[in-house]
Amino acid sequence: MLSRPRRNRSSAAVRNLVRETELTAGHLVQPIFLMPDAGARLPIPSLPGTYRLGIDEVLREIEDCRKVGLASFMMFPAVPEEHKDKTGTYATSEENFYLHAARAIKDRFPDVCLISDAALDPYSSDGHDGVVIDGKIHNDESLKLLDAMAVAQARAGFDVIGPSDMMDGRVGSIRRALDSEGLTDTGIMAYTAKYASAFYGPFRDALDSAPRQLADVPSDKKTYQMDPANAREALREGALDAAEGADFLMVKPALNYLDIIWRLHDAHSLPIAAYHVSGECAMLLAAADKGWLDYEQAATEALLSIRRAGADVIISYFAKDFARWNAK
Ligand code: PBG
Repeated sequence: MLSRPRRNRSSAAVRNLVRETELTAGHLVQPIFLMPDAGARLPIPSLPGTYRLGIDEVLREIEDCRKVGLASFMMFPAVPEEHKDKTGTYATSEENFYLHAARAIKDRFPDVCLISDAALDPYSSDGHDGVVIDGKIHNDESLKLLDAMAVAQARAGFDVIGPSDMMDGRVGSIRRALDSEGLTDTGIMAYTAKYASAFYGPFRDALDSAPRQLADVPSDKKTYQMDPANAREALREGALDAAEGADFLMVKPALNYLDIIWRLHDAHSLPIAAYHVSGECAMLLAAADKGWLDYEQAATEALLSIRRAGADVIISYFAKDFARWNAK
């Protein structure tokens, strides 16, 4: 036998020499769920270990994350029902606690990368990412609301806007809106290939943002999020987002969509982000809780696999734990 692949696996030293994929805390983004009450710390039953936090707790959390090398955060607002309406007016309100929180975080930690979520759903009384008009998600009316939301977020200090709504043309529309306000340094992380997935359940629990069951409103997101059966369509979305000025292309979810991550990585020179979503993390946590999987080993393998598939950036609820394990 001339060729014996096992020779390069024979010691930790040689395994390190031939390791093809590096994964560090620097590649990871920690999602944070924000609540209006400054001192709040509310568990999410379907996502153990992740909390909805008030700003005081968020600042503490970010400080902890900084100590283990995590510097990027994606923020989501848990908006109280009384602030929700059809057009998500609260998204751009002076009172919006999410915008205030971004300011407070950037004041205290100017060096962190703060990524927003730009979509109507946390603010929408219909639970949709776009505005519902006559029983339909109206694409171009939604763009106007998203543009205003993105400008408000950029002004509040977000470094990168994360349009997660899947409306057509939103990256270009937001780019133009930001530029016309002089916000040329604010980036856009486009949710390029966001699938109509069953794995967003715990996230929607956290924000109470599931599509509502109403007579005249669709109760799923299939008219805007992608069909899990489609891969070539992701390339089409990627080409549009790149042409419209996106700074990152994202695939979401991650583990069931490693082929999509690879295809976009292969087709584009833009950085590829992958969102390891709430349901993907929850199922691993549930198995670990039963003693069926080892949390640290399984989570590390999951993150490494997403990176190996071609993700430059991984957004994961495991980010802080991974950073902690590797800082020891
Ligand atoms: C909504 C949004 C969702 C997620 C991120 N942004 C849910 C949805 O589209 O219904 C899901 C993230 C996760 O499950 O962790 N714009």
